[in-house]
Amino acid sequence: MTIDEFESALSRFMDEVTASRTEEAMRYSLTAGGKRIRPMLLFEVLKGYGIDEKQGLEAAAALEMIHTYSLIHDDLPAMDNDDLRRGVPTCHKQFDEATAILAGDGLLTQAFALLANSSLAPKKAVQCIRILSRMAGPDGMILGQTLDIDEEDKHAWQDLVKVHNYKTGCLLSAPLMMAAAIADREDDIDTWHKAGTALGLAFQIQDDILDVELTAEEFGKSNSDEKNAKITSVTILGIEASKEEMERQYQWGLDIVRSLRGFDSEGFVKMIEAIQKRRK
Ligand code: IPE
Ligand code: IPE
Ligand code: MG
Ligand code: MG
Ligand code: MG
Repeated sequence: MTIDEFESALSRFMDEVTASRTEEAMRYSLTAGGKRIRPMLLFEVLKGYGIDEKQGLEAAAALEMIHTYSLIHDDLPAMDNDDLRRGVPTCHKQFDEATAILAGDGLLTQAFALLANSSLAPKKAVQCIRILSRMAGPDGMILGQTLDIDEEDKHAWQDLVKVHNYKTGCLLSAPLMMAAAIADREDDIDTWHKAGTALGLAFQIQDDILDVELTAEEFGKSNSDEKNAKITSVTILGIEASKEEMERQYQWGLDIVRSLRGFDSEGFVKMIEAIQKRRK
């Protein structure tokens, strides 16, 4: 699956939504130029299992909708209060706060509508809905975002690891777990969750490092951790130890993936290695 093929499927799925200001804002944030890392990981897992990647289109689009909604709400004044996202003004800057809240709500709900109406076999669709709702909801990403704003609770590294695992690890594990469900490899789902947790932790440590190292223009988003006095990997460990921990977690995640029997990990490993080198 190429990014372009995914983009056109995503845009086709959005065509099903009634035109409105909210729909315009949903489309604005969705198509602003995200890296599409989570959908591409889902397709790569299907490929490693020898499954036609097209079977994962709705699941990948649903996940990207939920990820985009999480960013729209994360940027709101009540949360990180940021102006730039995916190289363009944040949703509430481009539109207004009420529209940004509704665009997030719309993307969240539409994601599940897409899965419920998907061409997947009913059992697989339900399994994807189960995984995505758990990973995105109040026992997943939402819990992470909740812990993220409770500054006083995370002065030790292990406390921050918990925040990272929920706010980022859950939505990075979801594509891997959904792909295993679509590939009829239920027994592998827990292993993918473990791998996704390590890779998600690595990805968030990297995000914390890049927030310090890049300008907003290079990063394509406001690098606001310092302004917001956030406790991050960098404030707890420092840059060098953060980089070491990031490398260790990427390696650990890949070791778990390589241990899966009946999964050809070559393409997946290459994709993670490219993500590890990202400067955006
Ligand atoms: C940003 O995710 C939020 C984090 C978990 C760090 P991405 O870096 O994947 O953002 P997009 O989708 O490319 O905008
Ligand atoms: C939030 O982490 C990740 C989400 C669940 C949205 P950040 O607040 O660090 O993400 P960015 O840096 O704004 O993308
Ligand atoms: Mg945040
Ligand atoms: Mg943020
Ligand atoms: Mg960040």
